[in-house]
Amino acid sequence: MEEMVRKDTNRSSKSGSASVKISGSKPELLKDIKQKNFARISTKDEEFDRVLGGGIVPGSVILIGGDPGIGKSTLMLQVTLGLDNKKILYISGEESGSQIRMRAERMGKIPDNCYILSETDTGDIFLGIENLHPDIVIVDSIQTLSSPDFEAPAGSVTQIRQSTNELMKFAKENNVPVFLIGHITKDGNLAGPKVLEHMVDTVLQFEGDRQHVYRILRSIKNRFGSTSELGIYEMQGNGLRTVENPSELLLTQRDQPVSGIAVGSTIEGIRPLLIEVQSLVSPAAFGNPQRSTTGYNFKRLNMLVAVLEKRAGFMLGNQDVFLNLTGGIKVEDPALDLPVCMAIISSYQEIAIPDDLCFSAEIGLSGELRAVSRIENRIAEAERQGFRKIVVSSYNSRNLKNIKSGIEVKTFSRIDEVIRYIIGKY
Ligand code: TYD
Ligand code: MG
Repeated sequence: MEEMVRKDTNRSSKSGSASVKISGSKPELLKDIKQKNFARISTKDEEFDRVLGGGIVPGSVILIGGDPGIGKSTLMLQVTLGLDNKKILYISGEESGSQIRMRAERMGKIPDNCYILSETDTGDIFLGIENLHPDIVIVDSIQTLSSPDFEAPAGSVTQIRQSTNELMKFAKENNVPVFLIGHITKDGNLAGPKVLEHMVDTVLQFEGDRQHVYRILRSIKNRFGSTSELGIYEMQGNGLRTVENPSELLLTQRDQPVSGIAVGSTIEGIRPLLIEVQSLVSPAAFGNPQRSTTGYNFKRLNMLVAVLEKRAGFMLGNQDVFLNLTGGIKVEDPALDLPVCMAIISSYQEIAIPDDLCFSAEIGLSGELRAVSRIENRIAEAERQGFRKIVVSSYNSRNLKNIKSGIEVKTFSRIDEVIRYIIGKY
C-alpha cells in the first residue's frame, strides 16, 4: 500500500530548504509502489499541453526560458485564457498591471480568471497567495524576485535559488502548479544558475528569431513527460497562433527553381519537418572570406565547407559563404548536413536543384553520407509535402526495405556521388 505523507521538516527554518521530504523510514518494494495518477490540467492549447507531456501536472514547477522579447509573457497570458475554470495569480515583477492589461487587449481577449500582483518580495507574494488561494501561479520573471531573508540583490544566484526554493515548497505542499518565467543570457544559458534547471520539474525553452514570426516551444527537461516534444507557434499582431503544418510554411513557394536552395527533411523533437536551406557563395573581397549562418551551427558550416574542399574538390577557401535556414528556426539535426552542402554547391555552381527533390543525411569528415534516425518518418513527411525524390545515405538502406512509398528514394554513400548525380560532372 502506498502511503506517502508529505512532511515539512523545517517549516520555521530560515534556511529555506524546500526539499520535499516524504516521510516513512520503512523502505517499500518498488513493484508495490502504485503509480500516482496525475490528473493533468489541460490548457486547451494543444501544442502547450503536448510539450508538457499532456497538460499541467498539479504541484509541478515549470520553468519557461527564452530570450527577452521572444514572447514568454504573451505565451503565459494566452495560456491563462484556456484555463478559464481556474483561478490564476500572475505575479509580475517586470511590468505593471496596466502594461499586462495592454498586452491582453492586444490579444483581443481579456481573461476573467487572472489576478495580477505586481510584487517582487517573496514575503508579500506569499501573503497575496494566501489571500487569493489561486489554482495556478505564474511568476514573471524569477529573476526579479527576492526573499526578505537574504541580503543579496534580486537576480543574484542566491536570490534566484531561494525564491525558487520557496515557490517549489509552496507548489508541492499545496499541489498548485507554478510557472516560472526566466530570461536567457547572451551566451544562451538561463540567466542565473544552472541549478535552477536542476531544481524545477520541467524546463521549457521558447526560442526563435525575433525578426521572424515562428517560435518553437521545446521541452528540455521533463519529470512528467518526454523531452522530445515540440510546439510551433507563429507570433501575430494579436498573439500567438499554433502552427499545424509547419513544413508548408517553411517552404517558400516559387515559380521556378533557383540556385542556392536545397530542402532538408529534418526531425525536430519527434516531428518531421521540411526546412529550406539557402546559401549564397560569392568571391571574397580582399581575400578575406566571410562565413555567416542564421539558424545553423557556425562550426558545423566550417566543417562542411572543409569537407567540400577536401573530399569533393571545390575550392571554397576564397569564397564568402552565407547560410540561412528559412523561418528563423534553429536546427541542430545532423541530417541537415547534406542539404547544407547541396545549397552551397548549388549557389557556387549556379545550378538550381529541382524543386521536387529533398535531402536527409549526415556527412562525416571523410565525405561519407551517414545514416540518420527515423528515416521512415523523414521520407513520409517529404512525400506528404509533395516531393518526388529524396536523397538519403545508403547506410539507411536496411531501414528502407519495408517502405512502400510513392516517393523515389535515392541512396548514395558519398557526398561527391550526390553532387555528380544532382549537377552532373564537375
Ligand atoms: P513579450 O511576451 O513581452 O516577450 P517576453 O516576455 O519574452 O520578453 O512579447 C514580445 C514581443 O512580441 C513584443 O516585441 C511585441 C510582440 N507581440 C506581438 O507581435 N503580438 C502580440 O500580440 C503581442 C502581445 C506581442
Ligand atoms: Mg516578459
